Amino acid sequence: MSPTLTLFCIFFYALLSPLQCGTSSSADDDRRWLVSLVDLVELDYVDHCEQRANAAWNELTGNSKGLASKLERDKTFGMFVCQQTTDIKSALTAHALSADDHVLRRKVKLLLQPGDTLLDTEQWIRLVTFGDNAQHKIRFATNYDCGTATNCTLKELHYYMARQQDEETLHRMKQSWERNLPDINDYLEHILPLLRNASKKNNYNSVEEYWDALGEYEGAILKARELWENVKPLYLKLHKYIALRLKGSDAVGKPLPVHLLRSLTGDDWSNLIESLLPKHAGIYQKVHANLQLKNLGGVEAFKQAAKLIKALNLGDADPDIWTESVFNSTCPPTLVDWCKPNKVRAITCKDVSIANYIEAHEAVMKIVYKQTINLHSNNTYILREASRYSAVYEAIPGFVSLLSVNPHALSKAGLFPVETFNYNANHHRLVLQLIMALRDLPKLNFYLAADEWRIKVLMGAIPYAKIPSSWSDFRKNFSNIETADSDFLGDPYMMFNKPFIGKFMGLILKYQIYQSFAEELISDDSDLIKHVAENNERLIDAMMQGYGTVWPEMVSDLLAKREYGLEYTGLTDYYKFLDEYLDNQLEPSTDTSTSDDYVEPVEPEPVPEENEIPSSAENQENKNVDKVETHEDIVDNVIDTGDESNSKFGVETSTVGVLEIKNPVAPGDQKEENTKEASYSTYWWIGIAVALAVVVILIAIIARKRHSHRKQLERQRKNNSHA
Ligand SMILES: *[C@@H]1O[C@H](CO)[C@@H](O)[C@H](O)[C@H]1NC(C)=O
Ligand SMILES: *[C@@H]1O[C@H](CO)[C@@H](O)[C@H](O)[C@H]1NC(C)=O
Ligand SMILES: *[C@@H]1O[C@H](CO)[C@@H](O)[C@H](O)[C@H]1NC(C)=O
Ligand SMILES: *[C@@H]1O[C@H](CO)[C@@H](O)[C@H](O)[C@H]1NC(C)=O
Ligand SMILES: *[C@@H]1O[C@H](CO)[C@@H](O)[C@H](O)[C@H]1NC(C)=O
Repeated sequence: MSPTLTLFCIFFYALLSPLQCGTSSSADDDRRWLVSLVDLVELDYVDHCEQRANAAWNELTGNSKGLASKLERDKTFGMFVCQQTTDIKSALTAHALSADDHVLRRKVKLLLQPGDTLLDTEQWIRLVTFGDNAQHKIRFATNYDCGTATNCTLKELHYYMARQQDEETLHRMKQSWERNLPDINDYLEHILPLLRNASKKNNYNSVEEYWDALGEYEGAILKARELWENVKPLYLKLHKYIALRLKGSDAVGKPLPVHLLRSLTGDDWSNLIESLLPKHAGIYQKVHANLQLKNLGGVEAFKQAAKLIKALNLGDADPDIWTESVFNSTCPPTLVDWCKPNKVRAITCKDVSIANYIEAHEAVMKIVYKQTINLHSNNTYILREASRYSAVYEAIPGFVSLLSVNPHALSKAGLFPVETFNYNANHHRLVLQLIMALRDLPKLNFYLAADEWRIKVLMGAIPYAKIPSSWSDFRKNFSNIETADSDFLGDPYMMFNKPFIGKFMGLILKYQIYQSFAEELISDDSDLIKHVAENNERLIDAMMQGYGTVWPEMVSDLLAKREYGLEYTGLTDYYKFLDEYLDNQLEPSTDTSTSDDYVEPVEPEPVPEENEIPSSAENQENKNVDKVETHEDIVDNVIDTGDESNSKFGVETSTVGVLEIKNPVAPGDQKEENTKEASYSTYWWIGIAVALAVVVILIAIIARKRHSHRKQLERQRKNNSHA
């Protein structure tokens, strides 16, 4: 019997034992009564959800009465939930629940432990009033400093922060945002301690136990800590690399101010990407340029995401989303859920960037996830919307966001041809890994920091006088980042006392899901998108179960039974190239003889309209393409400059990293072959010299071609923006 199930039985035993004697009604009647009560309660929940969603939508879209009605609805909801919990409790008799009645048992459990809504009315009202007002103020304030002459909105602040270079200005911009955050003393005295009361109301002794229960994972925070210890080295390397690139070697290892990361809470460093690109970052430039050209922001990014999700056979996004969502507001996307089949709407921004593009995939997948749950008859309200923090619910959309930058997905979206990708595959992989790492590693750190710090404060582990500055102390120690004392209050999970543990576990799990599929590929050139599309039953099964099963019990099936729980290795294997690259950047190899293996791309087929090259040169080009590609096959697969790392690639046998490496060839092998073939070497060298000369000429021609191509693109873009 699993520990969860044991707990479950003890719970019911405790609950039911006092009632066991003296009940006269038959078991069947009791059960029927309970079932119909649960059905009724669920219907009432749906009504409340709809009214709250309407109010939330009005508030988000700037309706003048929006905030007032949202507050009203949220307050009423707390009283409603307490009433329903009491009703269900009174309907529970000894015979109402039979041992094999899993679905009903699960529903009852979820309804009896609804989380923070069980707070006393006055306290619940205090919590939602604080959160709703704080969110509203941040979203609608117009007094932000964008480094421009006039004050600006949040949307503009995000836009300018992403582009501002000057450290002083960035700091001012962030301070203007801090001024719109709620009062930290109010939070520390009246909001955060509500968690203790909520734990008690739900029958837990400590906040940590309470959060473990809401995350449905025993010892969740401890497990998160253990996982983090293994991810931390990579995080620290990324941090050091950023310090090195932005501030020079003296800054390496010291805390970085959060505004320097062009971030408000420090949970996402994506805005730095252009300052951090490695030497050969063609894929970034090209994807970035194509996103702009195709205007893949806002609704277009969402539609592109829906195309990928359809290609993955995970479902069709309901078309109403495109017409009824708002795409000119602020990022990241906010989803509003009406708790009805196919009614989720998004509010997001229309800025075009790789980060927003990736984010759009996650958002659309969350919407499709809800649709999938709805298709399954067992998933009535409570199994769809339970107040639980499921890592599976985070991981599957996260997995799709990882796939959005898969070479085949980029190619299908017309952002980067897969043929070009394969040409310098490992250089391109490195850049894509850097893009993802800037997004995911700081999040992982922020989530754990936020949960650990709150638990520490609530346990009394921090002296009273030090509490107000303890967040920035904690972040400095735990994250090596300098933040303000209160900037965590910009996050809705913090405002509403919600744990991040589900999101943390979800981030870990998504890389495991990725790895489980990647390991099944026959060759690393195979199309992962196609493979997932043809083998996605385990994803669909997990989605259909909703909250009917506790998520840790789904993990094994979700990973095709390769792993039975959370492991950090999915994540660390995914970032193999990045890890090697960072090592080399931070401690450059003393061996300078190895050369850069990047092969200048040769356009495989010239575009007809650009056919400026004389036909004789073209023939030569075609002949030499073969030569260059053979050469590439041998050395293309190693990014780094150190021999040591090369041999590491050769030895490793068990991970995704290996699958992503074509024909790893240890440098030593090459040398041996060369000595065997000594008699041919003179001819060989002459051949190489001729080929090199031709390649040099070709590169010159291509450079000219690319130049004129770029000019053409620019002209096109100008025309577009005039139109
Ligand atoms: C901009 O915001 C600051 C800080 O809230 C305020 O003092 C100032 O008056 C505002 N300026 C304008 C032009 O609105
Ligand atoms: C928690 O509950 C107790 C008892 O009901 C109450 O005295 C206390 O003020 C509550 N804490 C907060 C922060 O409201
Ligand atoms: C956003 O677009 C809607 C129409 O879709 C328009 O009514 C609204 O004024 C726009 N808002 C902003 C801030 O541009
Ligand atoms: C719920 O699903 C189980 C198996 O998935 C099925 O046996 C049962 O009949 C379903 N119950 C309802 C009410 O749809
Ligand atoms: C900093 O973190 C380490 C371990 O992560 C811990 O042992 C130490 O007590 C912390 N220091 C402070 C001042 O919080």
